[in-house]
Order: sequence, then structure tokens, then C-alpha cells
Amino acid sequence: MSTTLSFEAGTVIVAGGSGGIGAGICKRFAEAGMRVVFTYHSNESKAQALQADITSQGGLCEYERTDLSVASDVDGLFAKVRERYGRIAHVIYAAGPHFEFNFIGAIPDSDWHHVVNADINGAFHLIQAAVRAFRAQGDGGNLIAVITSAVERVPVKDIMSAAPKAAIEMLVRGVAKESGRFGIRANCVGPGWINAGLGKKGIEEKLDEKTREHIRKTTIPLQRFGEADDIAYAALFLCSKQAGFITGQSLAVDGGLQL
Ligand SMILES: NC(=O)c1ccc[n+]([C@@H]2O[C@H](COP(=O)([O-])OP(=O)(O)OC[C@H]3O[C@@H](n4cnc5c(N)ncnc54)[C@H](OP(=O)(O)O)[C@@H]3O)[C@@H](O)[C@H]2O)c1
Repeated sequence: MSTTLSFEAGTVIVAGGSGGIGAGICKRFAEAGMRVVFTYHSNESKAQALQADITSQGGLCEYERTDLSVASDVDGLFAKVRERYGRIAHVIYAAGPHFEFNFIGAIPDSDWHHVVNADINGAFHLIQAAVRAFRAQGDGGNLIAVITSAVERVPVKDIMSAAPKAAIEMLVRGVAKESGRFGIRANCVGPGWINAGLGKKGIEEKLDEKTREHIRKTTIPLQRFGEADDIAYAALFLCSKQAGFITGQSLAVDGGLQL
């Protein structure tokens, strides 16, 4: 006997597939047999390399340039995917803008507006398009938002990560409550320190060896930084039939940092 995750048929859309965490999610969903359509914003060479990597291993994968902060871009993406491949089974928000760590009192107004627009409005456009597509196809679907485990534990100098993600978490919970009756499940995965994408940049470029080791040993009960796969496997489980009674939840994947 063995237990294997199983999934409803359909394509998965991964917004932010060219990012460190998004790329991991694309790989694991393709490996599980799903057709992956991911978005990039500015890094086309990363998108090309990821597609080549996945297709070389027999996976089905393509990408589209999408500015999530522009609603018509997102609607165009969903229309294209539905026309080409029919049912959309899962939609994953794994995007987010870059920004500099700063104390709240020192954040330039323009930085705040940029981050709020790219992250909250970007996620809103994706979430709204997903709900509409799931309703139109009549048999539901899964929504996942990659947020941050910091929504439960205020991070000093990192409010531009946590505040937009708290808004996104509430949007996702709202979808779970309003649209559960249409077969739509909506959940969040909250990364802690992940050695990929933004987190890798932070760990490698912003922390010296001593601070890195201090954080690892004293703030993370499991005493390691996470990998993109840690997030990808959590998303994969939440999208599986085996998680079919789970909705409106946020799963921290952070080695215990949130405790
Ligand atoms: N890594 C961590 O340790 C960590 C921890 C907690 C939370 N998170 C959150 O998890 C998410 C993914 O993180 P990551 O480390 O993978 O970040 P990343 O490597 O910087 O990737 C960010 C992704 O978002 C895309 N993007 C940025 N602005 C966009 C826009 N306006 N429209 C469409 N796409 C846009 C980027 O596209 P291009 O690169 O093509 O421009 C890229 O695909 C982020 O929201 C981050 O805040 C990460």
C-alpha cells in the first residue's frame, strides 16, 4: 500500500514563476503531471531557462509576460489559458515586488505606494480572475497565495513584506468563505527564511556570517533556512484531493519561526 497525492484535472497558473519560490512551485507541479503556465514580469531569460528545464524532464510548461498590477493583462492571461487548454485547476500567487528593508518611519512614500500596488493590487487582480474562471467553468478550483509567516509575528524593518501579505491573506480567506459553495478552496502558504529568490538575496547579501548563524540558531526552532521545495510541497498538498476539506487556512512553512 502507498499514499500518493491526486489532483483534479486541469492547468495550473503560477504567477511569479520566474521568482525563486515560484520556480520551485512550477517544477513540483509539473513533476506531479500538471500542465504549468507561469508568468514572469521582467526576467525573460529566467523564464526561458525554467521552461527548458521543465520540458527537458518531460513536463508541460509555458510562460507569459504579465504585469499583475494591470487587470487587463491578468484577464488576457486567463482568457488565453482557457481558450488553449480548457479547465484551470489551480491558481497560485507567488509574485511580489522587490524593496529595501526599512523602519516604518523611514519608508519613502513612493516605495510604499509601489509595493502596495504591485503586491496587493497584483494579488487582487489574480484572485478575482481566478474566482471568475472557477465560477465560469462550474466545478471550482484551488487558489493558493504565497504570503509570509511574518503576518503573525511583526518583522522589524520588513513591514512592506508583512502588511501587503496580511491584506492578501484576508482576501484569500474572503474567497474561501464566499465561494466555498462553488467548489472553490482558497489557502495561503507562509514562508519564513527561504534560501531562494528574495530570501536568498537577503541571507547572502544583507547578513554577515555571524548574524546569519544567530538567526538560524536562535529564531528558527528547526535551525535551518528553508528551500523553495518546502513551499512547493506545501502548495502541492493544499491543491491535492487529499486536502479537499481544507480551506481558508494559512500554513506557515518556516521551521517554527512564527512560534
Ligand atoms: N524568499 C523568501 O524568503 C520569502 C519569505 C517570505 C515571503 N516571501 C514572498 O514570497 C513571494 C515570492 O518570493 P521570491 O523570493 O520567490 O521572490 P522573487 O524571487 O523576487 O520573485 C518575485 C516574482 O514576482 C514577479 N513580479 C514582481 N513584480 C511583478 C509584477 N508587477 N507583475 C508580475 N510579476 C511580478 C517577479 O517577476 P520577474 O522576476 O520576472 O520580474 C518574480 O517572478 C514574494 O511575494 C515574497 O514577498 C518570500
